[in-house]
Amino acid sequence: MPTTAEQAKQSARRKAAIAHGFDLVAEVYGAPDSGAFVRRLGAGLVRRARLRPGDRVLDLGCGRGAVLFAAAEAVGPDGYAVGIDLSPGMVHATAAEIGAQRLRNLVVRVGDAEDPGFPSGSFEAVLAGLMLFITPDPAAVLGSAHRLLVPGGRFAMTSFGPADPAWERPVRAALAFADQQQSVREWSTNKGGNPLLDTPEQIADLFEQAGFDQIETVDEEDVATYTGPEEWWASVWNSGRRAALLELIPDERREDARKAAFAELASLEVDGGLTRRTTVRYTTATRG
Ligand SMILES: C[S@@+](CC[C@H](N)C(=O)[O-])C[C@H]1O[C@@H](n2cnc3c(N)ncnc32)[C@H](O)[C@@H]1O
Repeated sequence: MPTTAEQAKQSARRKAAIAHGFDLVAEVYGAPDSGAFVRRLGAGLVRRARLRPGDRVLDLGCGRGAVLFAAAEAVGPDGYAVGIDLSPGMVHATAAEIGAQRLRNLVVRVGDAEDPGFPSGSFEAVLAGLMLFITPDPAAVLGSAHRLLVPGGRFAMTSFGPADPAWERPVRAALAFADQQQSVREWSTNKGGNPLLDTPEQIADLFEQAGFDQIETVDEEDVATYTGPEEWWASVWNSGRRAALLELIPDERREDARKAAFAELASLEVDGGLTRRTTVRYTTATRG
Protein backbone atom coordinates (compact mmCIF):
# COMPACT_ATOMS: atom_id res chain seq x y z
CA MET A 1 0.00 0.00 0.00
CA PRO A 2 1.31 3.51 -0.75
CA THR A 3 2.44 5.07 2.53
CA THR A 4 3.16 8.64 1.46
CA ALA A 5 1.13 11.15 -0.53
CA GLU A 6 3.79 11.00 -3.28
CA GLN A 7 3.58 7.17 -3.49
CA ALA A 8 -0.20 7.37 -3.60
CA LYS A 9 0.03 9.85 -6.49
CA GLN A 10 2.50 7.62 -8.35
CA SER A 11 0.27 4.59 -7.89
CA ALA A 12 -2.79 6.53 -9.14
CA ARG A 13 -0.82 7.73 -12.19
CA ARG A 14 0.36 4.19 -12.92
CA LYS A 15 -3.20 2.83 -12.66
CA ALA A 16 -4.53 5.57 -14.96
CA ALA A 17 -1.84 4.60 -17.50
CA ILE A 18 -2.82 0.91 -17.19
CA ALA A 19 -6.50 1.75 -17.74
CA HIS A 20 -5.64 3.95 -20.72
CA GLY A 21 -3.31 1.31 -22.23
CA PHE A 22 -5.88 -1.45 -22.01
CA ASP A 23 -8.70 0.85 -23.18
CA LEU A 24 -6.69 1.31 -26.38
CA VAL A 25 -6.77 -2.41 -27.17
CA ALA A 26 -10.06 -3.38 -25.50
CA GLU A 27 -11.95 -4.06 -28.72
CA VAL A 28 -9.35 -6.50 -30.04
CA TYR A 29 -7.65 -7.93 -26.93
CA GLY A 30 -8.47 -11.59 -26.51
CA ALA A 31 -11.50 -11.15 -28.76
CA PRO A 32 -13.13 -14.38 -29.94
CA ASP A 33 -11.31 -14.29 -33.30
CA SER A 34 -7.81 -13.31 -32.11
CA GLY A 35 -7.44 -14.30 -28.49
CA ALA A 36 -6.43 -17.94 -28.74
CA PHE A 37 -3.30 -17.38 -26.63
CA VAL A 38 -5.02 -15.73 -23.66
CA ARG A 39 -7.91 -18.18 -23.84
CA ARG A 40 -5.52 -21.16 -23.66
CA LEU A 41 -3.95 -19.63 -20.56
CA GLY A 42 -7.36 -18.76 -19.09
CA ALA A 43 -8.56 -22.35 -19.50
CA GLY A 44 -5.32 -23.65 -17.92
CA LEU A 45 -5.76 -21.31 -14.96
CA VAL A 46 -9.37 -22.34 -14.36
CA ARG A 47 -8.39 -26.03 -14.51
CA ARG A 48 -5.72 -25.47 -11.86
CA ALA A 49 -8.08 -23.47 -9.63
CA ARG A 50 -10.17 -26.67 -9.23
CA LEU A 51 -13.47 -24.77 -9.17
CA ARG A 52 -16.60 -26.64 -8.09
CA PRO A 53 -20.19 -26.19 -9.20
CA GLY A 54 -21.76 -23.49 -7.05
CA ASP A 55 -18.49 -21.65 -6.27
CA ARG A 56 -18.40 -17.85 -6.12
CA VAL A 57 -15.39 -16.60 -8.08
CA LEU A 58 -13.70 -13.20 -8.34
CA ASP A 59 -11.54 -12.59 -11.43
CA LEU A 60 -9.06 -9.73 -10.92
CA GLY A 61 -8.06 -7.82 -14.07
CA CYS A 62 -10.62 -9.74 -16.11
CA GLY A 63 -9.85 -8.00 -19.43
CA ARG A 64 -11.92 -9.55 -22.21
CA GLY A 65 -12.82 -12.53 -20.05
CA ALA A 66 -10.31 -15.24 -21.01
CA VAL A 67 -10.45 -16.47 -17.41
CA LEU A 68 -13.91 -15.16 -16.50
CA PHE A 69 -15.97 -17.02 -19.11
CA ALA A 70 -14.16 -20.31 -18.41
CA ALA A 71 -14.70 -19.81 -14.65
CA ALA A 72 -18.43 -19.08 -15.07
CA GLU A 73 -18.78 -22.27 -17.10
CA ALA A 74 -16.93 -24.30 -14.47
CA VAL A 75 -19.10 -23.11 -11.54
CA GLY A 76 -22.34 -23.55 -13.48
CA PRO A 77 -25.75 -21.97 -12.88
CA ASP A 78 -25.59 -22.39 -9.07
CA GLY A 79 -22.37 -20.36 -8.83
CA TYR A 80 -21.22 -17.08 -10.31
CA ALA A 81 -18.15 -15.21 -11.48
CA VAL A 82 -17.49 -11.50 -10.96
CA GLY A 83 -14.86 -9.77 -13.09
CA ILE A 84 -13.25 -6.45 -12.21
CA ASP A 85 -10.85 -4.38 -14.27
CA LEU A 86 -9.31 -0.90 -14.13
CA SER A 87 -10.03 -0.38 -17.83
CA PRO A 88 -13.58 0.83 -18.57
CA GLY A 89 -13.07 -0.17 -22.22
CA MET A 90 -12.34 -3.78 -21.23
CA VAL A 91 -15.34 -3.86 -18.89
CA HIS A 92 -17.66 -2.37 -21.49
CA ALA A 93 -16.57 -4.82 -24.22
CA THR A 94 -16.79 -7.82 -21.89
CA ALA A 95 -20.22 -6.77 -20.61
CA ALA A 96 -21.39 -6.56 -24.25
CA GLU A 97 -20.09 -10.10 -24.84
CA ILE A 98 -21.91 -11.40 -21.72
CA GLY A 99 -25.11 -9.78 -23.00
CA ALA A 100 -24.64 -11.16 -26.52
CA GLN A 101 -24.19 -14.68 -25.13
CA ARG A 102 -27.14 -14.18 -22.73
CA LEU A 103 -25.08 -15.53 -19.84
CA ARG A 104 -26.64 -15.13 -16.41
CA ASN A 105 -24.01 -16.21 -13.91
CA LEU A 106 -21.33 -13.58 -14.51
CA VAL A 107 -20.97 -9.83 -14.19
CA VAL A 108 -18.19 -7.30 -14.76
CA ARG A 109 -17.51 -3.90 -13.32
CA VAL A 110 -14.75 -1.32 -13.17
CA GLY A 111 -12.70 -1.90 -10.04
CA ASP A 112 -9.21 -2.01 -8.55
CA ALA A 113 -7.79 -5.41 -7.60
CA GLU A 114 -5.84 -3.75 -4.81
CA ASP A 115 -9.13 -2.81 -3.14
CA PRO A 116 -12.01 -4.64 -4.84
CA GLY A 117 -14.65 -3.51 -2.32
CA PHE A 118 -16.39 -6.77 -1.34
CA PRO A 119 -17.04 -8.03 2.22
CA SER A 120 -14.52 -10.48 3.72
CA GLY A 121 -15.07 -14.15 2.87
CA SER A 122 -17.18 -13.43 -0.24
CA PHE A 123 -15.53 -15.96 -2.59
CA GLU A 124 -14.45 -19.61 -2.77
CA ALA A 125 -11.86 -18.66 -5.43
CA VAL A 126 -10.00 -15.55 -6.55
CA LEU A 127 -8.25 -15.68 -9.94
CA ALA A 128 -5.80 -13.31 -11.63
CA GLY A 129 -4.82 -13.97 -15.25
CA LEU A 130 -1.70 -12.06 -16.35
CA MET A 131 -2.32 -9.12 -14.04
CA LEU A 132 -0.29 -9.37 -10.83
CA PHE A 133 2.95 -8.33 -12.57
CA ILE A 134 1.17 -5.31 -14.09
CA THR A 135 -0.48 -3.77 -11.04
CA PRO A 136 1.67 -1.30 -9.07
CA ASP A 137 1.33 -3.10 -5.72
CA PRO A 138 1.04 -6.91 -6.03
CA ALA A 139 1.30 -7.36 -2.25
CA ALA A 140 -1.83 -5.21 -1.78
CA VAL A 141 -3.69 -7.39 -4.33
CA LEU A 142 -2.69 -10.58 -2.51
CA GLY A 143 -3.67 -9.09 0.88
CA SER A 144 -7.13 -8.20 -0.45
CA ALA A 145 -7.53 -11.58 -2.15
CA HIS A 146 -6.68 -13.39 1.09
CA ARG A 147 -9.30 -11.36 2.99
CA LEU A 148 -11.98 -11.94 0.33
CA LEU A 149 -11.55 -15.73 0.35
CA VAL A 150 -13.42 -18.07 2.66
CA PRO A 151 -11.15 -20.28 4.82
CA GLY A 152 -9.90 -23.04 2.50
CA GLY A 153 -10.55 -20.83 -0.55
CA ARG A 154 -8.18 -20.91 -3.52
CA PHE A 155 -6.16 -18.24 -5.30
CA ALA A 156 -4.77 -19.00 -8.77
CA MET A 157 -2.87 -16.81 -11.18
CA THR A 158 -0.80 -16.80 -14.34
CA SER A 159 2.42 -14.90 -15.00
CA PHE A 160 5.38 -15.49 -17.29
CA GLY A 161 8.61 -17.41 -16.72
CA PRO A 162 11.90 -16.46 -18.39
CA ALA A 163 11.42 -14.90 -21.84
CA ASP A 164 13.10 -16.40 -24.90
CA PRO A 165 15.80 -13.81 -25.76
CA ALA A 166 15.48 -14.62 -29.49
CA TRP A 167 11.89 -13.37 -29.44
CA GLU A 168 12.88 -10.16 -27.71
CA ARG A 169 15.06 -9.20 -30.70
CA PRO A 170 12.18 -8.15 -33.01
CA VAL A 171 10.64 -6.01 -30.25
CA ARG A 172 14.01 -4.40 -29.50
CA ALA A 173 14.60 -3.72 -33.19
CA ALA A 174 11.29 -1.83 -33.35
CA LEU A 175 11.99 0.01 -30.11
CA ALA A 176 15.22 1.44 -31.50
CA PHE A 177 12.81 3.87 -33.25
CA ALA A 178 11.09 4.88 -29.99
CA ASP A 179 11.32 8.36 -28.48
CA GLN A 180 11.56 7.63 -24.77
CA GLN A 181 14.58 5.36 -24.56
CA GLN A 182 14.48 5.64 -20.75
CA SER A 183 11.08 3.83 -20.74
CA VAL A 184 12.47 1.25 -23.15
CA ARG A 185 15.45 0.62 -20.83
CA GLU A 186 13.10 0.17 -17.87
CA TRP A 187 11.06 -2.33 -19.86
CA SER A 188 14.24 -4.22 -20.83
CA THR A 189 15.39 -4.39 -17.22
CA ASN A 190 12.06 -5.60 -15.87
CA LYS A 191 11.15 -7.64 -18.98
CA GLY A 192 7.78 -5.88 -18.91
CA GLY A 193 7.02 -7.37 -15.50
CA ASN A 194 7.58 -6.68 -11.83
CA PRO A 195 10.99 -7.71 -10.44
CA LEU A 196 9.23 -8.77 -7.22
CA LEU A 197 7.69 -11.67 -9.17
CA ASP A 198 10.71 -12.82 -11.16
CA THR A 199 11.26 -16.23 -9.59
CA PRO A 200 9.05 -18.92 -8.01
CA GLU A 201 10.87 -18.22 -4.70
CA GLN A 202 9.98 -14.51 -4.82
CA ILE A 203 6.39 -15.39 -5.70
CA ALA A 204 6.24 -17.79 -2.73
CA ASP A 205 7.61 -15.07 -0.41
CA LEU A 206 4.95 -12.58 -1.50
CA PHE A 207 2.17 -15.14 -1.07
CA GLU A 208 3.47 -16.20 2.36
CA GLN A 209 3.60 -12.59 3.51
CA ALA A 210 -0.06 -12.25 2.49
CA GLY A 211 -0.90 -15.29 4.67
CA PHE A 212 -1.37 -17.99 2.00
CA ASP A 213 -0.55 -21.72 2.43
CA GLN A 214 0.09 -24.57 -0.02
CA ILE A 215 1.78 -22.25 -2.51
CA GLU A 216 2.74 -24.01 -5.71
CA THR A 217 4.23 -22.60 -8.91
CA VAL A 218 4.44 -24.68 -12.08
CA ASP A 219 5.90 -23.63 -15.43
CA GLU A 220 4.38 -24.86 -18.65
CA GLU A 221 5.37 -24.18 -22.24
CA ASP A 222 2.80 -22.60 -24.54
CA VAL A 223 3.39 -22.96 -28.27
CA ALA A 224 1.94 -20.32 -30.59
CA THR A 225 2.30 -20.27 -34.36
CA TYR A 226 1.95 -17.18 -36.53
CA THR A 227 0.97 -17.26 -40.18
CA GLY A 228 3.69 -14.66 -40.78
CA PRO A 229 5.27 -11.44 -39.48
CA GLU A 230 2.04 -9.46 -39.97
CA GLU A 231 0.20 -11.73 -37.57
CA TRP A 232 3.00 -11.42 -35.01
CA TRP A 233 2.94 -7.60 -35.29
CA ALA A 234 -0.86 -7.60 -34.86
CA SER A 235 -0.50 -9.77 -31.74
CA VAL A 236 1.84 -7.19 -30.18
CA TRP A 237 -0.21 -4.22 -31.42
CA ASN A 238 -3.38 -5.73 -29.90
CA SER A 239 -1.81 -6.47 -26.51
CA GLY A 240 -0.82 -4.49 -23.42
CA ARG A 241 2.59 -3.99 -25.04
CA ARG A 242 1.04 -1.54 -27.50
CA ALA A 243 0.64 1.27 -24.96
CA ALA A 244 3.70 0.23 -22.94
CA LEU A 245 6.03 0.07 -25.94
CA LEU A 246 4.83 0.53 -29.50
CA GLU A 247 3.10 3.85 -28.78
CA LEU A 248 6.55 5.18 -27.81
CA ILE A 249 7.42 4.99 -31.52
CA PRO A 250 6.23 8.16 -33.30
CA ASP A 251 3.73 7.58 -36.13
CA GLU A 252 6.15 8.71 -38.83
CA ARG A 253 8.76 6.12 -37.75
CA ARG A 254 6.38 3.22 -37.17
CA GLU A 255 6.69 1.75 -40.65
CA ASP A 256 10.50 1.71 -40.37
CA ALA A 257 10.18 0.15 -36.91
CA ARG A 258 7.91 -2.56 -38.29
CA LYS A 259 10.36 -3.33 -41.10
CA ALA A 260 13.25 -3.57 -38.63
CA ALA A 261 11.20 -6.00 -36.50
CA PHE A 262 10.33 -8.07 -39.59
CA ALA A 263 14.01 -8.30 -40.57
CA GLU A 264 14.72 -9.84 -37.13
CA LEU A 265 11.71 -12.11 -37.41
CA ALA A 266 13.07 -13.53 -40.67
CA SER A 267 15.89 -15.15 -38.67
CA LEU A 268 13.29 -16.90 -36.48
CA GLU A 269 11.42 -18.51 -39.37
CA VAL A 270 11.65 -22.28 -39.68
CA ASP A 271 10.30 -23.85 -42.89
CA GLY A 272 8.58 -20.56 -43.67
CA GLY A 273 6.67 -20.59 -40.35
CA LEU A 274 7.00 -18.73 -37.06
CA THR A 275 6.61 -20.71 -33.85
CA ARG A 276 6.96 -19.04 -30.50
CA ARG A 277 7.41 -20.84 -27.20
CA THR A 278 6.38 -18.98 -24.03
CA THR A 279 6.95 -20.13 -20.47
CA VAL A 280 3.62 -19.69 -18.72
CA ARG A 281 3.78 -19.73 -14.93
CA TYR A 282 0.78 -20.95 -12.91
CA THR A 283 0.71 -20.23 -9.18
CA THR A 284 -1.93 -21.65 -6.85
CA ALA A 285 -2.35 -21.08 -3.12
CA THR A 286 -4.89 -21.64 -0.36
CA ARG A 287 -6.24 -19.50 2.45
CA GLY A 288 -5.70 -21.70 5.48
C1 LIG B 1 -2.77 -8.63 -19.62
S1 LIG B 1 -4.44 -8.24 -19.26
C2 LIG B 1 -5.10 -9.81 -18.84
C3 LIG B 1 -6.60 -9.89 -19.01
C4 LIG B 1 -7.23 -11.24 -18.67
N1 LIG B 1 -7.10 -11.56 -17.26
C5 LIG B 1 -6.62 -12.34 -19.51
O1 LIG B 1 -6.04 -13.26 -18.93
O2 LIG B 1 -6.74 -12.26 -20.74
C6 LIG B 1 -4.29 -7.46 -17.69
C7 LIG B 1 -5.58 -6.78 -17.24
O3 LIG B 1 -5.42 -6.44 -15.87
C8 LIG B 1 -6.00 -5.16 -15.66
N2 LIG B 1 -5.41 -4.62 -14.43
C9 LIG B 1 -4.13 -4.33 -14.16
N3 LIG B 1 -4.00 -3.87 -12.90
C10 LIG B 1 -5.24 -3.90 -12.35
C11 LIG B 1 -5.78 -3.58 -11.07
N4 LIG B 1 -5.02 -3.08 -10.08
N5 LIG B 1 -7.11 -3.75 -10.87
C12 LIG B 1 -7.92 -4.22 -11.85
N6 LIG B 1 -7.47 -4.52 -13.09
C13 LIG B 1 -6.15 -4.38 -13.32
C14 LIG B 1 -5.69 -4.40 -16.94
O4 LIG B 1 -6.54 -3.28 -17.12
C15 LIG B 1 -5.88 -5.48 -17.99
O5 LIG B 1 -7.18 -5.52 -18.50
